[in-house]
Parts: sequence; structure tokens; C-alpha cells
Amino acid sequence: MNKRVYIESYGCQMNVSDSEVVASILAKDGYTPVKTAEEADLVLLNTCSIREKAEYTVMQRINEMNNLKARNRDLKVGVLGCMAERMREDLLEKKKVVDLVVGPDAYRTLPELLEKVGTGQKAVNVILSREETYGEIEPVRLDTNGVTAFVTIMRGCDNMCAFCVVPFTRGRERSRDAVSITSECRQLVRDGYKEVTLLGQNVDSYKWHQTGSITTAVANGTRSVDAKGRHNVNALATVDFADLLEMVALACPTLRIRYSTSHPKDMTDKVLAVMSRYGNICKYIHLPVQSGSSEVLQRMNRGYDREWYLERIASIRQYMPDCAISTDIITGFCGETEEDHRQTLSLIEEVGYDMAFMFKYSERPKTLAARKYPDDVPEDIKGRRLQEVIDLQKCKSAERLASYLGQAHAVLIEGVSKRSAEHLYGRNTQNSVVIVPRVHNDIDLRPGMVVHARIAHASPGSLQGAVLEVLNEKVVGP
Ligand code: SAH
Ligand code: SF4
Ligand code: F3S
Repeated sequence: MNKRVYIESYGCQMNVSDSEVVASILAKDGYTPVKTAEEADLVLLNTCSIREKAEYTVMQRINEMNNLKARNRDLKVGVLGCMAERMREDLLEKKKVVDLVVGPDAYRTLPELLEKVGTGQKAVNVILSREETYGEIEPVRLDTNGVTAFVTIMRGCDNMCAFCVVPFTRGRERSRDAVSITSECRQLVRDGYKEVTLLGQNVDSYKWHQTGSITTAVANGTRSVDAKGRHNVNALATVDFADLLEMVALACPTLRIRYSTSHPKDMTDKVLAVMSRYGNICKYIHLPVQSGSSEVLQRMNRGYDREWYLERIASIRQYMPDCAISTDIITGFCGETEEDHRQTLSLIEEVGYDMAFMFKYSERPKTLAARKYPDDVPEDIKGRRLQEVIDLQKCKSAERLASYLGQAHAVLIEGVSKRSAEHLYGRNTQNSVVIVPRVHNDIDLRPGMVVHARIAHASPGSLQGAVLEVLNEKVVGP
């Protein structure tokens, strides 16, 4: 009893969220989370396969475990997440230091697997599931700032974008029970959290069918609208993503709500309408485009073209003129020509993204692209195109930040600024970082407070604000 576990997360927010589920399962098995690998009896690396480089980083980290094991002979090392799923038993072959390999749908079996590991054997479970959502598991919040938290609303992905390994590592798409999502969000409020990010690989295809006692309790699925034009979401038989957003917004009016990731082919006006209707849903959408060229998008199997994407952007601007938009871009995908690349640049110019994650294409085993198309853009050209995309996006981000100058924004304070102990940092609804002085009118500002701040300066990557008043619990919207 009283064993210590250290969990390190790589890759996307989904892994951060999964690590909290793992910590919860292990807590019942007598494990307490610790903050360093050196203090632990069990080290778990929750890994990512999205690009070759991501896997390389983890492989280096696994090698470092040899030193730790040399110092602590009882130490056990486990690999979780997407690399565990992709590489399976091969991981045990390649890295002798690894005792345990567990895929993203098999975390409930960790206690049994660890028992086996305890007897000196190796243990593997990489079975994927069509049902597992860890719905009722109450996550143990790790590395938390006590202000913002993630809640997973669905798992897996059915999209099969040609470049992407996720459908192979995470399996089929499934949605989590909406009632367990809202109750987890309510619990966050009770625990003092001020912001939640709802997570899924493609949140727009969230779909959950109410069954049994819940359905009988809420009549026959007819929609009703109250005096304020709000839908009675409890009366729905099927809950889609727009409904879920509304349910959370109504259930937790003091909680800021964000979500990630939207898919351009599935993002509906219904979602935009709900976003615009509720002040506590943040005006920020991450809408990965990947490429500005319709031909490339078709080869990527993304299910939309340039025109469709730009129409979705226009719709966002129509519903919410002040909404921030960010994206993901891949340069040098199979067959990408100079003209395709110029189209990506022109799309960045046209949309004017607030922020972007930009990557060189990295071929992943088993994917449609790996099977069907040669990885034919030379590495140096991929790199040069990436640099051009990054340089242009830098200008666009700066323009967007500069456009906020003089405006008053509600800023949720998250922590102490990295650069100065006399300043705190937080975010506005658009998700840009705003730095404010630590003291306002003799009040010590603290993480979790909401302040109204006049945006006085814009520097690359952040804004500086002058605090006008402390709004705190009263207002969470813009
Ligand atoms: N579900 C999200 C993306 C998850 S992966 C969506 O559909 O938008 C996050 C980002 O990694 C992707 O948007 C893509 O830009 C990038 N990515 C995925 N596979 C990649 C690959 N093989 N090479 C380079 N970048 C990749
Ligand atoms: Fe990958 Fe596409 Fe699914 Fe996103 S939507 S996780 S890019 S397959
Ligand atoms: Fe990586 Fe798996 Fe997330 S591949 S990006 S950790 S879903």
C-alpha cells in the first residue's frame, strides 16, 4: 500500500485528460501521484504518435528510465497512450526497460496488469473498445492551476484523414453520456474551477442518445423554448454537440466554457448560434484547415474544400464578429506543389487567424497516405514552406492582437507571469494571454479572479492590460 506513481503526458490535451483518469483508477489501487519520476515506484509515460518526432522524444525519455532503474531496482515503467497502441509488444522488444504497455481504452485493467508486473512479468493490454468512455470515473486533477480543467466528451475518431494516425491509435468514435459530462462540470464548479475545455477529436460529431430512466423522466423528446429563447435541453432524446454546449452553459453559468477540436466539414450553424447566445461560452474556435488548396484537401480526405472552409469562416464572423479563430496547418503533404503552398499562404492571409499550430508533414505507418501516396516533397522544401507559413502567421497574430488595443476585456487570471512576479497572466474570451499587474487598488489579485482590463500594449504572443475593476464571480463573458 501507499505506492507512488508519476505520470508524464505527451501529445494532445486528450492525453492530459486521460492521465487524470489513470490517476483516478490507480488511486483506488493505493497509488498517490507524485511530481517527479525520482520519487516514484511506478513511472507512466502517456505517449503520442502524431508525428515521427513526437515518438522520437518519447523513445529518448524511455532510455532515461534505465538510469532511474539502476538507482531504484523496484521501479516499474509503463508506456500508455497512442504509442502503446501503435507499437504494442514491439515496445517491450525494443526497450527492455519497459514493464507495461497499455492502450487508451484499457486503463481500467491497470490494477490487474500491475499485479502481474509486480511478480516480475511484463504486461500488455492494447484492446480497443467501441464503448469505453470512462464516463463515471471521477478524474484526479494533476498539475492543476485550480482554475482551468479538461473534460473529455468523446473518444476515438472515424474520420480517416489520410495523414493521421489517430483513428489507428484511438479506435472508433464514441460519445460520453451527456449527464456524466454535466455532472463532472458541476463538480468542477464546486471545486472552485472557473473554466472547462470540452475535449474530442471532432466535437461536432458528438451524439448521445438518452436511454432508460433519463428519457422517461423528461417526456417525449419534444423541444421546448423558454421566454429567453433558450432550449429546454432536458427534453431531448438525442443530444448533439450544440445541445451539449447549451446544457453545460445552463448547468454552470459561472464557468467559462471552451472546446476543442471542431472539424470544418461538420461545424454547424446551430453550434455557432448557441455560442453566440451564452456569455459564458468563450468566443474562440480552433478550426484546423490543414491546407488552403482544394486538391491537397481532397488527397488528405478532409471532406471539404477551400470554398466550403471559407464559407464556415464567414458564418463564424456573422454569428460572432469578435470570435477568435485558430488553425492547424501541414506543409509538404504528398504531392503538394508550389501553387498549392501559395494557396495555403493566401488562405492564411484571407482568414487572418489569431493563432496557428504549424507542422511539416510526417508520414505515419498504416495511414491512407502512407499506403497510397509517395512522401515526395523533399525535406528542405517542406522546411522552407513551413518557415514561410510561420512567418506570415506571425504577422497575422500580431495584427489580431493589435486590433484589441484600447478595448476592455474580461480576463480570467490563471497564474503568475513567467517573466515577472509582480504580474499575473490570464486569458480573454478569445484565448489570448493578457498580463496584468498583481495588485489593483490595494487588492492582491489571485488566480481564479475575473478582472476587467483595458488592453494597453500588444507584444508578440501576449497583451498587457490595465485593470479597471475586479469582476470576480459576477461576469465571465466578454
Ligand atoms: N482532430 C484534430 C487533429 C488532431 S491531430 C483535427 O481533425 O483537426 C493535431 C494536428 O496534428 C492536426 O490538425 C494536423 O495538423 C497535425 N498532424 C496530424 N497528423 C500529422 C502528420 N502525419 N504530419 C504532420 N502533422 C500532422
Ligand atoms: Fe485525425 Fe482527421 Fe480524426 Fe482529426 S479528424 S483526429 S486529423 S483523422
Ligand atoms: Fe498524439 Fe494520440 Fe493525441 S497521437 S495528438 S496523443 S490522440
